[in-house]
Amino acid sequence: MASALKPHALRLGRSTLLTPTARTGLLSLRTTKPPLTTPATPSTRRHKSGPYGYTQAKTLVFSSFGEPADVLHLHTSSISPQLRDGAALLRALAAPVNPADVNTIQGTYGSRPAFSSLLGTAEPAAVPGNEGCFEVVAVGGGVTGLGRGDWVIPAVGGFGTFRTHVVVEEAERVLFRVGGERGVEGLTAKQVATVSVNPCSGYRMLKDYVDLVDLSVKSFARGEGATGGAWFLQNGANSGVGRSVIQLGKLWGLRSINVVRERATPEETEALKSELKELGATVVVTESEFLDRSFTARLKEEWTRGDKEPLMLGLNCVGGKSASAMVKALSPKGCMVTYGGMSRQSFPFPTGPQIFKRLRFEGFWLSEWAKENPAEKRNTVNEILDLMRDGKFKEAPFKEVEWNWDTEEKVLKDAIQGTLEGFRGGKGLFVFGET
Ligand SMILES: NC(=O)c1ccc[n+]([C@@H]2O[C@H](COP(=O)([O-])OP(=O)(O)OC[C@H]3O[C@@H](n4cnc5c(N)ncnc54)[C@H](OP(=O)(O)O)[C@@H]3O)[C@@H](O)[C@H]2O)c1
Repeated sequence: MASALKPHALRLGRSTLLTPTARTGLLSLRTTKPPLTTPATPSTRRHKSGPYGYTQAKTLVFSSFGEPADVLHLHTSSISPQLRDGAALLRALAAPVNPADVNTIQGTYGSRPAFSSLLGTAEPAAVPGNEGCFEVVAVGGGVTGLGRGDWVIPAVGGFGTFRTHVVVEEAERVLFRVGGERGVEGLTAKQVATVSVNPCSGYRMLKDYVDLVDLSVKSFARGEGATGGAWFLQNGANSGVGRSVIQLGKLWGLRSINVVRERATPEETEALKSELKELGATVVVTESEFLDRSFTARLKEEWTRGDKEPLMLGLNCVGGKSASAMVKALSPKGCMVTYGGMSRQSFPFPTGPQIFKRLRFEGFWLSEWAKENPAEKRNTVNEILDLMRDGKFKEAPFKEVEWNWDTEEKVLKDAIQGTLEGFRGGKGLFVFGET
């Protein structure tokens, strides 16, 4: 049973209690009348501890698909300290806002959340956010693999991380305790909160489609005069995924050609190129350079020794002209993996290159991959966390948004709404403070 829950509040008016949902293992909130014995407390006043151990939670919810600014609402509820067997009460520490979160709210993502009337909202609602780091506040009976103070991340999709607190049923199945035997020493909540989507996606795409490390080894073994590891190409290279790919590529001895969009001034473009090179990028070109007719000649002359060092993997999160240029740049039998469409433009699957270059086109979706490979997902997360701990992997730049008890709904909604805008200084990240 949960005791001395922190932070904690009592309030007047309608409150919500928790009931389980079978699908996600998360407990949903049910609107109910407050206990009769609740002392009269001004609704604006907040107590960190109280006689009943109720935790007051704030949750971003949406009841219809649309723009985040239009459809999101901040919902307040009370969580009972009575935890069912197998459940855990969590407090959020940090949660990033990924493009997929916005697409989910818009209703354009590959999977749609179910709106539940159990959330205690006026209309059936869903909770956005797929990734985050939580601290275990209390566990119910029978939970042996998790304890108070542990840091956890969701092990299932559609968790709903944009909330200050949550009760999770079947906690040991639904949550992944961070750090294994090494615990969380040397890690920050921001690193943990952002490890499971972008870095994992980058890791899997770089490893699972073309064995570039093997290609490098064989190329050296054949004594072909290779001047470095195997090449790969990516657009959207300054994205969270792109930065992960750059770093992992460097760590694995590979060489990368990275495409970014021009910034407002040449100086800013150069600064971005330098930043990515410092991360481990071999070559950084602007989208104009990439789309220019001269690019294929440059590829041959400047980097691949006249195609002697083939370009076998392209990672595409942009689509449109950038994707078409990638098709042109790839070497025969190369593989193009599409995992995003930030330009919102499709691209043709050109017949010629498919036949005569025998190119392979693949799509990557982390959620499905993780469902099919749960153990491998954990291993990937652990491996990247170890790299972070050892200072070998840097998280992407963030635009932190502090989420405290009194943070206004608009501040939270604005942080989400801007996510799909281009040329951003960093990915939105909720950092939970005094909640
Ligand atoms: N399939 C999967 O499993 C999976 C997993 C993770 C991520 N993703 C996808 O990967 C992509 C990147 O995600 P992220 O979280 O790494 O992104 P992020 O860190 O938020 O960065 C967004 C990236 O998109 C670029 N961008 C924005 N608008 C653009 C436009 N109109 N044209 C071209 N580029 C544009 C940005 O470039 P500027 O700085 O130049 O604006 C930046 O590089 C998204 O499409 C996301 O949905 C897919």
